[in-house]
Amino acid sequence: MRTQVGIIGAGPSGLLLSHLLHLAGIDSVVIENRSRRYVEERVRAGLLEQGSVDTLAEAGVADRLRREGLAHHGIELRYDGTGHRIPLTELTGRTVTIYGQQEVVKDLIAARLAAGTVRGNPPVIFDAADVAVHDVTSGSPRVTFTRDGVAQSLDCDFIGGCDGFHGICRPAIPDLAVFERVYPFAWLGILSRSRPVSEELIYARHRDGFALATMRSNSISRLYLQCAPDEDPALWPDARIWDELHRRLGCGSELEEGEIFQKGVTPMRSFVCETMRHGRLFLAGDAAHIVPPTGAKGMNLAIADIRVLARGLERFYRRQDTGLLDRYAEICLRRIWKGQRFSWWMTSMLHRFDGADPFEHRVQVAELDYVCTSTAAMTTLAENYVGLPFEV
Ligand code: APR
Ligand code: PHB
Repeated sequence: MRTQVGIIGAGPSGLLLSHLLHLAGIDSVVIENRSRRYVEERVRAGLLEQGSVDTLAEAGVADRLRREGLAHHGIELRYDGTGHRIPLTELTGRTVTIYGQQEVVKDLIAARLAAGTVRGNPPVIFDAADVAVHDVTSGSPRVTFTRDGVAQSLDCDFIGGCDGFHGICRPAIPDLAVFERVYPFAWLGILSRSRPVSEELIYARHRDGFALATMRSNSISRLYLQCAPDEDPALWPDARIWDELHRRLGCGSELEEGEIFQKGVTPMRSFVCETMRHGRLFLAGDAAHIVPPTGAKGMNLAIADIRVLARGLERFYRRQDTGLLDRYAEICLRRIWKGQRFSWWMTSMLHRFDGADPFEHRVQVAELDYVCTSTAAMTTLAENYVGLPFEV
């Protein structure tokens, strides 16, 4: 098989890259090691910056997002039992939209499959095993994999390494420049068939740990609780989860207890691989960086990387101009580090750190107090939360 750009991974990064390239007349094949069903049902975060929504809309894949996404104009920070609204739209003129990541993935897969076979190649190959990349520093890199027990090879001009944090692309690069922080806690996340506790998201700091009330629709709540990094969800029967949510969110009957139909633990990590390019292999999204979910930046940073990479490849194919590809890492990293800083700051301000002394505790509360009472500080939070402007 031969294509122009071989893409590893059918998450938001790989699928959006493939779709943007298709719109620019560039052929690609996405190779995914899981099934279509698995990637469409994998529950992740679900908050899109306005720039991410605009990117998907410009690419023609936002019809359902426009219909079903919930536009939000503010968030609430809760601490010491009191809620404080941060009026995002009033402060920045922008909104954020709640729309599950797996819905973005479904929409992108539908768009890729609708484009059909190009020069004999399917747009996406699911269930590929033993995926490996070769000769990435040559002019003609290759991807090999097996499908239904048959060994296959895909020759390409470039490879998009969009295979997430545990993928094979990053480890294929020598001498990586990596920066990392692992947090001493995780989030236990649930989906519940119940009305959201409030129209807007609530981020709550509590002495027993952080809690977040978000949603997927007007009848599905998404709720998170800070827990131990190695927490066993089996130790969290539904009654314990509801008890803890009531206490940490400081909610009464407005927190409806619905049927919990999904439960999972998300580890918390900050990670940046600054080596985002090796020859003709480009890393994007979670393959290159991970943020703790507190700032809701994961999917948004992935989309921002892909905008730069797709434009860079377009310029290469249109006018043999490698300028943007050569600056790919530099441009992406400016945004990635600001996203890292914001996610780290939100995480530090809102979580319980075991062993923190009373001084640290008071500084944390003072920080929240400042953010909730100073227009300057609130604006800083708001402009990062709704998303900084794109460079490309
Ligand atoms: N071969 C092929 N595909 C692979 C391989 C492999 N060896 N390893 C992993 N993959 C696939 C995964 O199954 C997944 O579908 O690559 C895809 C990577 O997708 P994501 O992990 O969703 O990463 P990305 O597309 O960069 O999206 C970033 O995901 O984790 C969230 O918070 C993050 O929202 C952000 C988004
Ligand atoms: C979510 O809806 O899953 C979500 C929202 C905001 C966050 C994290 C997760 O900060």
